Amino acid sequence: MGLLLLLAGVLLPGCWAVTGPRTMWGYVGGSLSVNCRYEAGQEMQPKFWCYPGRIFTCSDDIIITLRVQPVVRGHRFSIRDNRTWRVFTVTMESLDKRDAGSYVCGVRTSTFDADESHVVKVIVAPGPTLSRAPTLPPSTPPPTAAGTDAPRGTPGSFRYFPVLAGLQVPALLAMSGAVLWASLRG
Ligand SMILES: *[C@@H]1O[C@H](CO)[C@@H](O)[C@H](O)[C@H]1NC(C)=O
Repeated sequence: MGLLLLLAGVLLPGCWAVTGPRTMWGYVGGSLSVNCRYEAGQEMQPKFWCYPGRIFTCSDDIIITLRVQPVVRGHRFSIRDNRTWRVFTVTMESLDKRDAGSYVCGVRTSTFDADESHVVKVIVAPGPTLSRAPTLPPSTPPPTAAGTDAPRGTPGSFRYFPVLAGLQVPALLAMSGAVLWASLRG
């Protein structure tokens, strides 16, 4: 019983000490910001954004603030700790499809290295320009039409044959008429 209370005392604060959104959406090439809140007394603790490891842990820290540096900027990721409002904002820029997945925002506590964290699922949707591209090929049939047109072109040439044959009769008459006219003149 004492062990259960101890476990609850260690694990339960880890469940609710940091709160934030469950899911965040972003577009390819765009950016997104996640706000994670923490409890009073943790203002000076480092705040992190990481890839999840096992329960309540990180496999890899992506970005983390320091006691002396509440704002940290990386290449595409940044974190801004507002110690007055006890909320830190994680920003992901130039989003890529590979950025989709689960992340953890949290407060790094020194005791047992048990982070107080929250899992956020990031969904990266195709950008407006990219989503329009896949709808274009079905509306422009030329590539496939050219392939099906080739066999249809052969019977199409036969369709013109009667027309040519029809022209041959007056042409033949005109030629024979000219020959007859020339022979009568001569
Ligand atoms: C903290 O957030 C509040 C509300 O958005 C804002 O007024 C304040 O300037 C922020 N402080 C810092 C240090 O960013």
